[in-house]
Amino acid sequence: MTESLTLRRPDDWHLHLRDGAMLRAVLPETTRHFARAIIMPNLVPPVVTAAEARAYRDRILAVLPEGAEFTPLMTLYLTEATDPEDLAEAHAAGLVTAVKLYPAGATTNSAQGVRDFDKVRPVLERMAEIGCPLCVHGEVVDSDIDIFDREAVFIDRVLDPIRRATPGLRVVMEHITTAEGVDYVRANETDLGATITTHHLIINRNHILVGGIKPHYYCLPVAKREAHRLALRAAATSGDARFFLGTDSAPHTDAMKETACGCAGCFTATNTMALLAHVFEEDGALDRLEGFVSLNGPAFYGLPVNDATLTLRKGEAAVFPGRIDTADGPVTVFDPGFPVHWHVDP
Ligand code: NCD
Ligand code: ZN
Repeated sequence: MTESLTLRRPDDWHLHLRDGAMLRAVLPETTRHFARAIIMPNLVPPVVTAAEARAYRDRILAVLPEGAEFTPLMTLYLTEATDPEDLAEAHAAGLVTAVKLYPAGATTNSAQGVRDFDKVRPVLERMAEIGCPLCVHGEVVDSDIDIFDREAVFIDRVLDPIRRATPGLRVVMEHITTAEGVDYVRANETDLGATITTHHLIINRNHILVGGIKPHYYCLPVAKREAHRLALRAAATSGDARFFLGTDSAPHTDAMKETACGCAGCFTATNTMALLAHVFEEDGALDRLEGFVSLNGPAFYGLPVNDATLTLRKGEAAVFPGRIDTADGPVTVFDPGFPVHWHVDP
C-alpha cells in the first residue's frame, strides 16, 4: 500500500482568484501547493486588454504570501472587440498565456462574452498563427437547450465548427463534465486538450439536488449524471496526456451562495491535492496522478515542468477548514462528503 507520494509540483490550469480582499484571502490556498495557475479573467469589469492583464498580474504578485513561489499565467477575456495585435504583442512578451472564450451569458461575469463568433474570427486566426491557446467555456446558452445538454450541444454547434474553420488553433476545453466532452477530446489527435476539475470527479447531480438543495455543490458547467462522472474519472486517471487538472476553484462568499439566486462555483483550492490523491488511489491510479496534475498541462502549453516537488502522505482522516475567512465574508471549502486520509507535507 502506498503511504507517501512525491510529485513534481502541480499547476492549476483554470483558477479564479478574484480581486481585492477576496484575492488576498484565497491566494494562499493555491500558492501553498501549486507553482503556477492559469488565472481566469472574469473580473468585473473583465480583463480584456494587455494593459489590464499586466495590472491584474501586478495586483496578484503584490499580495503573494511571504516566501511563496508562484507564477500567475494571465489570460485575456475574449470580446467581439478584442484587438488581435494587442493580444499578439502580449503573448510574445510572455504577459498573456492564453485567451478565454465565454459565450455571452454562460456563467458568472460573462455578459461581455462572445455572441457572434464571426466577429472573433480575426483574433482566432491570429492565435492559431502565434500558437496562443484558446481556453473555452463550452456551453451554449440558448434558452431552449436544457442546462444538462449545454456542453454536448456546444461541441456540435460551436466548438467543432470553430476548430474546422481555424486549423492550428490550440484549444483547451475547460472543465469538461460529460462523456461527450471526453469522447470529443479522444477523437481529435492534435491541438486539443481538456481540463477536469476536482469536484466533477467527486460529485454528480444527485449531490446537488437529493435531500435538499446544496448550493456549495452548484457550479457551471453543472455536474451531470453518474455515468458522466465515471467517464471523467476514467479520462483523468487514464494517463492520456490530453487531460489535465484545472480546478476551476471559484470562490463566492456564503452570502452569495446561500440565497434565493445563488452564484455558481465550488471553492476547492484548499483541499484539491488531498482529494485527488484519494480519487486516484480509489481508482488504482496513484502512479498517474503526477501526469494529471504536474506533467500533462505543461506539455500542452509548451512550458517546462516544475523543478520543485510536493509530497502527499497517508494517515489519519484529514481535517480541512470548513471556511476561509475573507474581509467580504466567509467562503465555504468544498466538502467531498467522505473522509480523506491524504495530507500534503508542509
Ligand atoms: C465561475 C466563477 O464563479 O467565476 N463559476 C463556476 O461555476 N465555475 C465561472 C466559470 O468558470 O464558469
Ligand atoms: Zn471557471
